[in-house]
Amino acid sequence: MKYLRKVMLSIICLAVIMALNHIVFDTTQGKPPKPAYKSSMRYVEIHSHFITISDNRFAIEKHLNEHRSGMSRVAHFIMPQSGIFKDVTSSRDDYFTHIATEHNIKTLLFQTTDSDKDGHGVFQWIGSKSLCRALGNYKGNIPYSNSCTTNMEETFSAQRPERKPRFKLPVNDTLTEELFQWGTISSFIHIIQNGIISNDGVVFVGDLQVIPYSCLDRPEAIQASKEHFSTTIKDKLDQLPRYGEVFVITQFWSGEFYHGMVESLPRLSRYIGFIDKRNDIKIYVACTSFMKSSLQTIFPSRNISELVICDKIGPILAARVYFPEGTPCGMYKSSQSGVYQMSREFNKYIGLSIHIPPKNYIILIKRTKHRILVQHDVIASFLNDIAKQNDMELFIYADDKLPSFSDTRNLFHQARLVVAPHGAGLANTLFSTPGLFVIEIVCNHPHLNLCYRQLAIFLGHHYHGVSSQFGCESTLNVDVNEVKEAIQFYIKHIVKKKNS
Ligand SMILES: *[C@@H]1O[C@H](CO)[C@@H](O)[C@H](O)[C@H]1NC(C)=O
Ligand SMILES: *[C@@H]1O[C@H](CO)[C@@H](O)[C@H](O)[C@H]1NC(C)=O
Repeated sequence: MKYLRKVMLSIICLAVIMALNHIVFDTTQGKPPKPAYKSSMRYVEIHSHFITISDNRFAIEKHLNEHRSGMSRVAHFIMPQSGIFKDVTSSRDDYFTHIATEHNIKTLLFQTTDSDKDGHGVFQWIGSKSLCRALGNYKGNIPYSNSCTTNMEETFSAQRPERKPRFKLPVNDTLTEELFQWGTISSFIHIIQNGIISNDGVVFVGDLQVIPYSCLDRPEAIQASKEHFSTTIKDKLDQLPRYGEVFVITQFWSGEFYHGMVESLPRLSRYIGFIDKRNDIKIYVACTSFMKSSLQTIFPSRNISELVICDKIGPILAARVYFPEGTPCGMYKSSQSGVYQMSREFNKYIGLSIHIPPKNYIILIKRTKHRILVQHDVIASFLNDIAKQNDMELFIYADDKLPSFSDTRNLFHQARLVVAPHGAGLANTLFSTPGLFVIEIVCNHPHLNLCYRQLAIFLGHHYHGVSSQFGCESTLNVDVNEVKEAIQFYIKHIVKKKNS
């Protein structure tokens, strides 16, 4: 098990490195993106399989509904004549050029304008000296460094998130080799006729193997997914369970808390209202208890057993597949992730079950199996004193006696400060209101992984990283003074705000 974890960890790191290499590649190419059309032209003219609409739920629902009425609801699947599938993933520049060749896929592209208020404030992240030093000495491939600041005041300088050009699209039905890029497409969804969904979240349609941008996006995993099709699906096409309409959000590793909550679930964020009103649509998902509880929170009036198809049942054939954009492994490379919208959805419902006035929790996450923080007790006692002095409450969130899902939700919703060693418990900050202070004790080289910094930034939280002095996988050792210094600084602001 331990060995497996190690392998998985290195795979995650590798995936993150690969994803980041893409960023480097993209930004160092230097050439400004070439616009396909003047902005007065409607994007709908690019290609008959693509429609560009504005990125709001009303428009999205309307268009999904129009497509819905025009498609057959009886599923059948024909193997490609060559017997071979071409794998396509949106991490690749030529993704939409391949997608455009398949008449069973229609794509809605969501367009935003600069005046859209879709963005929210993001705060400058801070590092203690130990983290800035670790980043300065960092020799890995991930371009983490450059902007590390130890000046905690800077956490209050909010910026608008930067919007990067993201997708390259085919020009027209001629499908020239030339690719074009738009900065204003924020996301997309495919509506697929007759697709086989396999339990890694991949959809086989026509001669394409459509892969969500996710932790699967590595050559060997893509190959394994292909082999899975030819060894276990191909000869049993007639026996596959058949469905009418299926919305797929499962991704590689989404049975794990972090990947499930932060990468898989946010794929739903634009479509909750659309799905809620239509009982015929089922969600294909990794059925963990946290996923079911999450779905029950955002679909309060639905019977979750009837809403979901568990990916455990294996591959299925669906007449109509809704395939929203995937979330990259570790969320690097996404400039806008659905995670902020998902967090707002949660907060809408959690807020209803919180007593007024809300508690002001300080949460200290305690790990007892892996990545055990050696200085836990010292920090706990320091936080306990601070909580008492300021009429707040310290909650030790320990992985050997985890509260229920709904208690966890309500707890993190009322948290003002979370202190934690690197680990999945931090994904619960999804339930917190924006503006939370997060102090994370990250692993030192070579285990450094800043995916929770990325999450905090996306969620509009304040992030402060401290590097462990040594250790990672079994135990971490931190300079307690660095942690105390950060706590003292942020608590002043929390108390000031609480009393104002
Ligand atoms: C499609 O785009 C190519 C490249 O710009 C152009 O040469 C061709 O005439 C266009 N075809 C149509 C049908 O507009
Ligand atoms: C929800 O659906 C399942 C499966 O159809 C059914 O067994 C169960 O009784 C339903 N629960 C409620 C509360 O209706």
